[in-house]
Amino acid sequence: MASDLRLRDITPGNLDAALGVRVRPDQEHLVAPVVKSLAEAYVHPGVAWPRLIVDGERTVGFLMAFFDVDWTGDGADHRSGLWRLNIAEGEQGRGYGRFAVEAVAAEMRRRGGTRLFVTWHPGPDGPEDFYLGLGFRPTGEASDGETVGELVLRG
Ligand SMILES: CC(C)(COP(=O)(O)OP(=O)(O)OC[C@H]1O[C@@H](n2cnc3c(N)ncnc32)[C@H](O)[C@@H]1OP(=O)(O)O)[C@@H](O)C(=O)NCCC(=O)NCCS
Repeated sequence: MASDLRLRDITPGNLDAALGVRVRPDQEHLVAPVVKSLAEAYVHPGVAWPRLIVDGERTVGFLMAFFDVDWTGDGADHRSGLWRLNIAEGEQGRGYGRFAVEAVAAEMRRRGGTRLFVTWHPGPDGPEDFYLGLGFRPTGEASDGETVGELVLRG
């Protein structure tokens, strides 16, 4: 496990590093590229929370959380969670994905949240076992063909 892990805001100085985060070619159907996430962050300014994942000075991944989304469109169900998670090819399997989920959970707790949602591509080639291993449980819902999962935050 790496030692100096942090999240950083996306800035003019690290934009190219963010755009350079790429998953393996065979994983590209599992997550949108960073450039799309940053475009979505631009049009959803109060909702999207994009961050670079850095280990020391090395960029190892990108995440984007979402906060307080009107899930059903009728105001009855507001949700927050993890929108995107891209750990770079060559940096996977080193604990960075776990760190990213824990960092979003910490930010949610800070804001008073208790349920962290995520959606994932179903099937053995996707990240399902990663999320299940971190304690996420399927809600039984699907969203755009993806499985909806929920992590109940404690303490
Ligand atoms: C899925 C992904 C985010 C995981 O990040 P990572 O940094 O490789 O995962 P970590 O090293 O933090 O792994 C944490 C634990 O999950 C396990 N794990 C990671 N990926 C897994 C997978 N695909 N299947 C099963 N277990 C997995 C690890 O073995 C580790 O278990 P351990 O703590 O018992 O050793 C990363 O591989 C990735 O970016 N994949 C491509 C894009 C993608 O699917 N993003 C998610 C979109 S919803």
